[in-house]
Amino acid sequence: MIQTIGARLGTAAQMVRKGARLADIGTDHAYLPIFLLQEGHIASAIAADINPLPLQKARDNIAANGAEGRVKALLSNGLEAVLPESVDDIVIAGMGGELIAKILVDCRWIKNAGYNLILQPMTRPEALRSYLFENGFELLREEAVEEAGKAYVVINSAYTGRIKPFTASDIYIGKLRAEDPASRKYLSKVYTSLLKAKKGAELTCDAETAAFYQQAILKLEALI
Ligand SMILES: C[S@@+](CC[C@H](N)C(=O)[O-])C[C@H]1O[C@@H](n2cnc3c(N)ncnc32)[C@H](O)[C@@H]1O
Repeated sequence: MIQTIGARLGTAAQMVRKGARLADIGTDHAYLPIFLLQEGHIASAIAADINPLPLQKARDNIAANGAEGRVKALLSNGLEAVLPESVDDIVIAGMGGELIAKILVDCRWIKNAGYNLILQPMTRPEALRSYLFENGFELLREEAVEEAGKAYVVINSAYTGRIKPFTASDIYIGKLRAEDPASRKYLSKVYTSLLKAKKGAELTCDAETAAFYQQAILKLEALI
């Protein structure tokens, strides 16, 4: 059986390093690790999920694709049950930005430059980017991608240990540039929500917060 994946997971897949041992956290159906294994792109994978039902789906798909030898299903809350020396690249996709940040906060070994992180927040990417900046992670690359009429962001990051001050555009725009239709669509959405947030701050006379948003608004006006 040939495993296919959509554009959102496909963009995450492109950020996984060739020959990597992958951990897919919140794997659900295990489509991503099975796809990457069939492509010959990864050496092995851990398909982890906190919930037994999705994990059973993952097990069934792994078995249906004859991938049991190289893709292991693992019941795990975040990275808790993953052995640090058993993985190189870590995908956490299809969850909220705050939950992804929490999974990273709860992992004692993640602050290591050797791990390639591929993070796909469905909501609040700014919360995730803030966590990354405050904890010494760098944004390597970001892509916006459209699937079934919706725009998503995929973030590629790694630990450097350097903690740098960040602006509103760092956390709301990250490394995205309006160079393709998906990025323009995604950034237009960010722009609209920032205008709303700024208006809210002005209504409560919070000039500092309004000025914070304004910095990202101006950058977006130049980009879009
Ligand atoms: C919407 S699915 C995303 C599936 C796939 N990663 C994707 O992007 O299409 C989210 C999955 O994350 C799992 N999940 C939620 N919290 C988790 C946690 N703390 N650790 C591991 N898995 C978690 C859920 O059980 C669910 O299967």
